[in-house]
Amino acid sequence: MQITCGTDIIEIERIKESIKDLGEKFLNRIYTQKEIEYCENKKGQKYQHYAARFAAKEAIFKAISKKLKDKYEIGWKDMEILNDEQGRPQVKIKGVQRENIDISISHCREYAVAMVVMFHG
Ligand SMILES: CC(C)(COP(=O)(O)OP(=O)(O)OC[C@H]1O[C@@H](n2cnc3c(N)ncnc32)[C@H](O)[C@@H]1OP(=O)(O)O)[C@@H](O)C(=O)NCCC(=O)NCCS
Repeated sequence: MQITCGTDIIEIERIKESIKDLGEKFLNRIYTQKEIEYCENKKGQKYQHYAARFAAKEAIFKAISKKLKDKYEIGWKDMEILNDEQGRPQVKIKGVQRENIDISISHCREYAVAMVVMFHG
């Protein structure tokens, strides 16, 4: 059993600018419909949540090390980060069993961070 981890930090302003400049083109390239619904429901805080999901997906790319990249072959929308009833983020990734990955997210006014741990059988 191999364990890998990944982490990412992002400036929320960067994501806000991308969304303002590119709009739906950017959103539909990076996020699933359910992720967009989750973030849009946050109204004024939405950019923090978009940035957190961007960081989460970057962290997943890091956790899938170069060696494992060929095994998974995932793109932005093959990953989905949604929250359970307690608010805890849950990750779905194409080709990865739910119990083999866990994620933690945090964000403040300027930055969003995410860390991911993956088990590979
Ligand atoms: C859950 C809690 C710790 C989040 O801390 P916070 O400082 O408000 O917020 P942060 O910016 O650090 O983190 C926000 C992220 O935390 C994650 N989160 C929310 N609830 C969570 C939970 N119960 N467990 C793990 N992660 C959680 C989410 O991913 C959220 O971001 P998202 O909405 O974009 O997905 C806080 O809301 C809290 O203390 N809640 C009351 C107690 C509680 O429910 N504790 C958890 C069970 S013991």
